[in-house]
Formats: sequence, C-alpha cells, structure tokens
Amino acid sequence: MCGIIGIVSKNQVVDRLIDGLERLEYRGYDSAGIATISSSEIVHSKSTGKLVSLKNKIKQNPIDGHVGIGHTRWATHGEPIEVNAHPHVTKNVAVVHNGIIENFAEFKNGLLEKGIIFNSQTDTEVIARLVEEKISMEKCGPLEAVRLTIEKLRGSFALCFIFKGLENLIVVTRRGSPLALGFGDGENFVSSDALSLSIFSRKVCYLEEGDLATLTSDEVKIYDSFGNSVFRDTQILFTDPINLSKGQYKHFMEKEIFEQPEVISQVLGYYLNAFEGTLSLPSLPQSTEIQRIILIGCGTAFYSCLAAKYWFESLSGITTHAELASEFRYRSPVVRKDDLLIFVSQSGETADTIGALRFAKKYTKNILAVVNVEQSSIARESNWVFPTKAGPEIGVASTKAFICQLIVLKILNIKFASDLSKISVKNRSNLLNGLLELPRLYAEILSQNENIKKLCKKFIGSNSVLYLGRDVLYPIALEGALKLKEISYLHAEGYASGELKHGPIALIDESMPLVALNPWSKVFEKTLSNLEEVKARRGKIILFTDKKGKELSKDLTKSIFQLPSCSELLTPILYSLPLQLIAYYTALDKGTDVDQPRNLAKSVTVE
Ligand code: AGP
Repeated sequence: MCGIIGIVSKNQVVDRLIDGLERLEYRGYDSAGIATISSSEIVHSKSTGKLVSLKNKIKQNPIDGHVGIGHTRWATHGEPIEVNAHPHVTKNVAVVHNGIIENFAEFKNGLLEKGIIFNSQTDTEVIARLVEEKISMEKCGPLEAVRLTIEKLRGSFALCFIFKGLENLIVVTRRGSPLALGFGDGENFVSSDALSLSIFSRKVCYLEEGDLATLTSDEVKIYDSFGNSVFRDTQILFTDPINLSKGQYKHFMEKEIFEQPEVISQVLGYYLNAFEGTLSLPSLPQSTEIQRIILIGCGTAFYSCLAAKYWFESLSGITTHAELASEFRYRSPVVRKDDLLIFVSQSGETADTIGALRFAKKYTKNILAVVNVEQSSIARESNWVFPTKAGPEIGVASTKAFICQLIVLKILNIKFASDLSKISVKNRSNLLNGLLELPRLYAEILSQNENIKKLCKKFIGSNSVLYLGRDVLYPIALEGALKLKEISYLHAEGYASGELKHGPIALIDESMPLVALNPWSKVFEKTLSNLEEVKARRGKIILFTDKKGKELSKDLTKSIFQLPSCSELLTPILYSLPLQLIAYYTALDKGTDVDQPRNLAKSVTVE
C-alpha cells in the first residue's frame, strides 16, 4: 500500500523521484523518503507527514545522484515517525518496500542475537539487514544477495535496492505486490504503479510473481525466481499521465463528484450504442452456462457487489452472492466450475481482492474483472475485463469509480437478463433508456448542491449518524455511512430499514440524525413505517425521496430532499450522489483532510 519508485539515469534523478512520488502519494502519506548514491555513498532524506515536508527538507538540504529510490508510506509495522520511514539504510544497502513480511520477527531475533542494532520497528529494516549481511559477510554480489534474502521471506513485497559504490544499478523484485518497469533513453524506471511511470516513459512491462530485475541506465535484465533470464512483454501506455489538477475545485473529491455527469456519459458511451439502443460488450461467458454469480470486492467496491446481487437475482434470476474479499478465501468457500466470479475494484491492486481471485482461479475459469485501472493486476489476471472508464480517481474516498462500477454491473445485469429471456425487449429498452437519462439526472441533482449542504447542518453536535435503506437501497445506505466515516471521521452506520427495530433503534433520541433513502417503490410503505418509529422516538430524519414519496412523507419530517423519479432498479445509482455530497460538505465543515483522510490510502495492497 506504499508507493515505491526508482530511477537510474545518465542525468540527475532527485527532482523526478519527487515527481514520481507525487503521483504515488495516493498509496500512502504517513511519511516519505528518498535515497541516492552520491560520490559512491548512500545519501538519504526522510520526513514524516505529506510529501510536501520531504520536498521542503530537500530544498533546505539538497541531495543529488544519478540513481535513486523513493517511497511514500502507509504504516504497517511501526508508527509513522521518521525512523520508520523508508528508505531503510545500512552500510551498503538502501531499500524501499511495499507489502508486509510476515516472518520478519524470526529473522530480527536472529540478527539481534548476532548483535545487530536496529533503528526502526519496521519489517523492512530486516530485509536491509539480511541483504547487508550477505554483501558484507558472505561477499555476495547485489543481485545474489537479494535473491538469497527473498528466498526466506514470507508475505508480500515489492522491493527496490540501491548499493553503496554502485551509481548505475537498481535491483528490484516482487512477490504479491506489483512492480512495473519503464524504459527510457539512457535511463530506466521502476514503480509500484505503471500510471506513475507514464510521466517518464510510455513503454512499460510488468514483473511477474517472484521475478527479479537489474536496471542500469542502458539496460534492464529480468530473471525468474529460479534465476533464469526471462523476457516479459512490454506494453505502450495509452493513458494520459495522471492529471493532478483540481481545476476550479477545492478538492479532488469535489471535482470527482461534479464531473460524474460526463464520466457517466463516457462509460455509457463505451458499452451502449444509444442510437441503436444496443449493447456493445467485450466477450464474456455464456449466460446459459452460468449457475451462480459470486461478486467479490472490498469497502466501497463490496457495496457495489451487494447492490448488484439484488439486481442479478431480481432481474436476471441467477443465484448471486456478494462476498467480502478479505473473508472469502479464508473460509473455504465452495466455488464450482460453472460459477461466474466477478471481482470489482477501482485500483485493481487490492491485496484482499487479488488473494480471493487467485483462490477462485483454482476452481473456475470464469473470472471476470470490473476494474477502473485497466493495466492493474486484477485486470491482467482475469479472463474477462469490463473497464469502468471512470478515469483516474485521486480522492481517497471513492465516488465516480463506485458509480461507474454500479453502471457496468447494471449493464451486465441487463445483458444476462435478456440472454436468459428474463426481460422483454421493451423492458430492456426502458432500462437502457433509463441509464442514458442518468447524466441529465445527475446534473439536475448537482445543481441543487446548496440545498444538500444545508441538510448537513443537522449533523452539527452529533457524534453519530444512521443511514437507512431497504432492498436495493440498503447497500447504498452502507456506502453513504462509509463515505461519511472516511472523510469526516464522524461515526456512521448503515442499516437495512427493517433491521432497525431489532436493536439499533435503542440509539435513537432527539440528538440522533438519521439519513433515510425511501423513494416510491414496492417497499416504500414498509420503510415509511420504520421511519415513523424513528419519529416517535424523536430521531432527526433527513429523507431522500422522489415526488410521490415526498407527498406521502409530508408529516414525517421537514428535512426532505426530492430527487428526480427513475426506474426502481436504477435508484442505487441516483441515490448515491446526495450521500457523496453529504459526506463532502460535512468533512468541509469539520475541516478534515478530504482527499487524504487520516489512516487511509487509496490502494490497499496489504492484507
Ligand atoms: C472507498 O471510499 C474506500 N477508500 C475503500 O473502501 C475502497 O473502496 C476499497 O479499499 C477497495 O478498493 P479498490 O476498489 O481499489 O479495490
């Protein structure tokens, strides 16, 4: 979950290491650091907090070099203080690491017994010390020292090393965490994220599991885990370098919320032919051969899976499960060869989701990815890929990527339903037309953002907020609560409306705000009754509903926001938008770090 970068070049590298780290900061921002080889010596600079502190430090005490490695950290072992920041440096070695070494303690104890003194509490320092031992005691060359060290390690890692006295060498290796190499003219690059390389080079390749590589300014050599020299296919990146501009907006999250009408049009344009009213989809498994669908993801991506479960069962009539990736593979789930496994992820690098995917691959070939980052590990390891086309999402709290996941899953849902003759041609065309209406409806809601901002005032002085939804809006209540927690640090819980009376209703009093999603639908009246129960206990209800729902809820609350009417099956997509705005405006009010909230990282590459 940390970001790592390395550059070896005929030119100076420090400024570009910082540029690269800027594009990787979304992976972690507890601390940052770089190391280079200057006049044959290892020099380094580290700082806690955001990258800007490292930049300022380097401005005051510049360092130089033609080879260097850099790191942005999301703390796993050891709190985010300077000694725990990467690179970890010994006499001859500097290393940056993304991942977790599970058996680090046993090596640390062995090294401590030998009298080695550790400077940090990290698992990574153990790697530096082990490689150092191989170089200074056993006289191994750099590549051999790294190869022998990683043989013993358990866990996941992407590692980049530089060495004292070697101004034209980086050694890298990976297992479990991704690493991409970028090829330049008189310089070569490595990073945990190919997109961050796109500012330096469009020609990239991805290391495979267990690979090692040496990079000099003129040459890249790759070896498999057995030490055989291997060739890995190169690709040309067509993605534009990540646009780091917020434009007119104060935060990336705000920009990403407000650009959704265009983003939705973009994804619809990719999958639908609006003129002919037809779908144009990448290849996918035969619907008739699928017995069950299992959707898997984490966090927000899991909530899109949960919404899709409702859709796939009600419209396509296929037995569907939604699973948390982090639970899935460790509970010995049953996966059959006629199951379709759909892995949903913005980054495509979430370790839990990758773990679940690799587990599922042992049982079925039907592995489909719904991902935003098309070059990601999940996309590369899946047999079918449906890109979400949301464009780069920089804000840690997912907004537009979630909406695009819902849209892609809805499109798959319509496709299966029509292949299995579960919906009429007319119904299919109504649903497709409904989807095409979304950009306009989104723009309409966004134009009323000031009214939503006012509703957030209800949260002032509260320690907790409840979100309620029933049926297909239940996953959206969960997502709304997650969004609020993530960026405003206000405690929030999502519940299925019918569950309230089974316990959470005990929390309701005059100080408890409750956000309810209840447009007119087959479950409207049931939910209204649940909300009456809240009102009877003086809970402060903020209701999101449509025209008919508003008329029928007049006596319930004065805090009603009316959304445009749409097909019941599309309400999850529409009702997510005001909840994103609620989270954003509440965080603004509280003055939190909206784009980089505390303790989080955009891409969670540890289990
Ligand atoms: C979303 O706001 C969160 N930051 C988080 O829950 C995220 O959705 C989750 O970590 C999964 O990430 P992915 O979509 O990149 O796999």
